[in-house]
Amino acid sequence: MTTTIDLHKQARDILKMNDRGGYTIPTKGLYPYQWNWDSAFAALGFAQFNIDRAWQELDTLFTAQWDDGMVPHIVFHKSDPGYYPGPDVWGGIGPLPSSGITQPPIAATMARLIFEKDKTAGEAHIRALFPKMRAWHQWFMQWRLDQGAVCVTHPWEAGRDNTPEWDGPMERIDPIGVGEYERRDTKHVDGSMRPTKFDYDRYIWLVQMGKRLNWDQQQLLEENPFRVADPTMTFTLLRAQRDLLALGVELGLDVNGLDVEIATLEKGAASLWNNNIQSYDARDTKTGEWANCVSNASFLCWYAGIDSAGQSEQLQRVLDKVQFGVPSHDPESPKFDGRRYWRGPTWAVMNLLIGLGLEEMKHPLALRLRQATRALIEQNGFAEYFDPQDGTPAGGQAFTWTAAVWLSWAGENQGGNDGIN
Ligand code: GLC
Repeated sequence: MTTTIDLHKQARDILKMNDRGGYTIPTKGLYPYQWNWDSAFAALGFAQFNIDRAWQELDTLFTAQWDDGMVPHIVFHKSDPGYYPGPDVWGGIGPLPSSGITQPPIAATMARLIFEKDKTAGEAHIRALFPKMRAWHQWFMQWRLDQGAVCVTHPWEAGRDNTPEWDGPMERIDPIGVGEYERRDTKHVDGSMRPTKFDYDRYIWLVQMGKRLNWDQQQLLEENPFRVADPTMTFTLLRAQRDLLALGVELGLDVNGLDVEIATLEKGAASLWNNNIQSYDARDTKTGEWANCVSNASFLCWYAGIDSAGQSEQLQRVLDKVQFGVPSHDPESPKFDGRRYWRGPTWAVMNLLIGLGLEEMKHPLALRLRQATRALIEQNGFAEYFDPQDGTPAGGQAFTWTAAVWLSWAGENQGGNDGIN
């Protein structure tokens, strides 16, 4: 039987193995570059045993920040032909080769958690990162709001690539002229666990459009048919802004305007409540239509500091339907697919964010979620994601963020309601 000590060692070894010197790849083969929110989770994982390495991870991520404030979702530090679409397909316009879209802004939240562990080691890093994080958040505020909610302009931006929330907007896209391309993801992982060709054609078509427009946000605003107000982005940015404000106040930095931005995002979060399904939901801003989906992002409200009795009922229902929650899509929906990426599987990182919020609010389901995540990893290892019904590991193996979740949260089960380690 594997002990907790063995699992801690395995998790640390995964982080070290995926370390490429200053940044960490999600997993060898499938994802050979630096991903934005994966790195923020990696930093939290490293902080449990090597605080300097944790800060280095975040510092490196922000070296790829664009002039307009955007922090890209992939940084291509060293070319690797095993991944498609690579730097040439994207044509990013930042200081380093990168993609042209972003990912959920959790870096400020992770930075604050790491700072809390060791303020002496962290203060200089926070001072240097603060204006960069502020600029990134302001870029969202300038370009991505719809009724105060934060929009994604590509399914990959939400970090939940093929969730059923995008089905409606994706169907409206005709990927005309996308041409021939060779997928590499299905060479690493079984195609039944990955997005379909229908999705991939549209992913690539959207990338080609962005490159053609030189990633000009104004032009993208006019031309891009994919613009969805998304609970992932809205809740993570709201939370990140609160953390930035707290850090700024503590260190006497310029927090001017942050309170107004937070109030805007709070309104935006409220605008994502879908009365028809009694849940937070994604909204297609081009048609005004709801996705009508209860996803794991719907449960990020507590993480954003928002309590919701209606969402609590949903959480209870969903957790009762599967052994290892929180599933990425409603297990009672006909679109639920337990092994296909973001259409059903459980993702430890989402559980961490949801669980952190629940614990901070002393929610009665908090401990249950932490224990389910702990059992999931104990029994099935450090996979990219898992079947929520029986825990079968899926996608890539030896995954950085699952190891980080173990070290920082799931592997520590001392009472459960004491917040993150
Ligand atoms: C997939 C996930 C995304 C993650 C990336 C690297 O694209 O959907 O959330 O950041 O892989 O792990």
